[in-house]
Order: sequence, then structure tokens, then C-alpha cells
Amino acid sequence: MPATIKKYQEALAAVGRLVGQTPLVELKSLSPSPNIHIYAKLEWHQLGGSVKTRAAYNIIKTAIERGELGQGKQLLDASSGNTAIAYAHIAAALGIPLTIILPENASVERKRILRALGTKLIFSSPFGGTDEAQEKAKALALAEPEKYYYADQYSNPANWQAHYYGTSEEIWAQTAGKITHFVTALGTTGSFVGNARGLKEKNPAIQLASLQPDGALHGLEGWKHLPTAYVPPIYDDSLAHHELPIDSFQAYDMLRRLAKEEGLLVSPSAAANVLGAYLWAQELPPEQEAHIVTLLPDSADKYGEVIEQIFPY
Ligand SMILES: Cc1ncc(COP(=O)(O)O)c(C=O)c1O
Repeated sequence: MPATIKKYQEALAAVGRLVGQTPLVELKSLSPSPNIHIYAKLEWHQLGGSVKTRAAYNIIKTAIERGELGQGKQLLDASSGNTAIAYAHIAAALGIPLTIILPENASVERKRILRALGTKLIFSSPFGGTDEAQEKAKALALAEPEKYYYADQYSNPANWQAHYYGTSEEIWAQTAGKITHFVTALGTTGSFVGNARGLKEKNPAIQLASLQPDGALHGLEGWKHLPTAYVPPIYDDSLAHHELPIDSFQAYDMLRRLAKEEGLLVSPSAAANVLGAYLWAQELPPEQEAHIVTLLPDSADKYGEVIEQIFPY
């Protein structure tokens, strides 16, 4: 093993212990019948506070092991939020400099967290979203290839593989192999693709549904409306048996319901994933035994402005 990789091995192992292994809880108040169960994986229970720590860690670890990152090479990527924060925690722990291209309209909370963790921020236009941030990151990486390792979470197989080797194994073990349905949203699509491939391999009968916002303008952080966005190269459109469009306002109603009935204060996109599971559950015959699992990518912690609107004083 090259000495460059050895240098990071211990720190990678220490950080790795804080990635994944998140709890799975049943949302009993949402069951449409005694036979149909909905479960949520609380992904904010890990370093960095979101599902994206899984992908960020695997991307960084893989790049270091290949000798493509570290030893003078900086980490570079585009992200509007959770991935950037996940990279920032891990890169700080490893002593690797991080540059993030971030749409200028990202919340002050996010910018503050990233700056506190020592991230260099370069802003892209507030009107171009993550698509424009990606273009800017790519241009910077091309201009200075010796300075940056461009992680490109939308094309990097280590993104979906984090879920294939990690999340899907956890779900299988936590449901004792009883899972019948898996549903989650499409962002970079890593969560859906990795879990879908992993679960399908364990039991080909498992039904898979992907969620998208019902239009280009939506309030679901981290989600992509594929008909009007760049389709991530890691996306595999052969996997989903079912696709459900999600209305942001209905997701906010679910957010209120989860707070009141389950004691979970989650992000709008986590509530939207639960709404997807709930709508799907209602399509099933009530006598059918079903164990539906979804991911709750993050809690309400970083969404102060949205939460204030959903729960006005
Ligand atoms: C809050 C939130 N929900 C959903 C997603 C989508 O996950 P993925 O990128 O794995 O498709 C993300 C991704 O950044 C996210 O931050």
C-alpha cells in the first residue's frame, strides 16, 4: 500500500465508525390497515446529520484508496446542502482542503456551518440551481486538474455503492428480511439506485418506487424534477416498478402530522418521502401484508426559515 494512503487509514476508520447504522422506526399512526406497516430510517443519526454522509464518505474513501485525493490534492464538488456539509465534516477530520460550489441562495444556516468547518465556498448564480453549480465545478476542475479532485457526486459510482453495500444491508437486517416495498426520492439518485439494486438482489420480489416533485418549481431540498433537469449519469431508469409525483404542500401537511403524531420533526423532503410511502400504502389491498421502508434524509434542524412558515406562532 502506498504511504500516501496509509497516512489517512486510521482517520478514515475513525470517521467510518460514525457513518450509517441509523435506526429504523415504524410509523404506526400512518398504517392504513393492520397488515400494512410503514418504516422510516432516521438518517440524521450520523456524522453530518444526513443521509449524504454515506455517499460523501464512500466517495472520499474510494478516491483516497485510488491515490486520486489527498497529498496536496483538494476535494471539489457542487452541492446545495447536505452533501457539502457531509464532505465538510469528513474532510476536516482527515485534514483535506475542501472547495464547494454552492448556489448563492443557499440558506445562511448552511453557509455558516460550512464556513465553521473550514470549507472554501464559491457561489454560483441563485437562478441556476445545482445544475449550474455542477457546470462551474466541472470548469474549475478542468482548468486546474493538478489542484482538484472533482468528486462529481452525480456521476460517481461510489455514491450509489454506499447504499448498495451500506443502507440496503442495514434495512434487510433491521426488517429481518421482511421488507416488501422500498420507496425514496430521486436527487443525485444514489439513494434510490443503490438501495434498489441491493434489495432486489436479496429478494427479487421487493417492489421499488421512486419519487419526484410534481413540477419544476418545488420546495423539496435535494430532490430533482428529472424532465426539466440534467439526468444524473448514475441514474438507472430500469429499476423502479412505480413512480409517484409529490406535491410540496401535501409534504408540508405530512411534516405537521409527523411532528404531532410521531414526535418526529423532519425536513420537508423527509416528510415528502413519508408521504410517498403513505400514498403507496393506500394503493395496496388492505388484506395484503406489506412492510414499506423509506428514508428520512435529515431532520428539521437546518430548515429554520421553512419550519417557521409551516408552524407560524
Ligand atoms: C434532504 C435530501 N433529500 C433527498 C436527497 C436525495 O438523495 P440522493 O442524492 O441520494 O438521490 C438529498 C440529496 O442531497 C437530500 O439532501
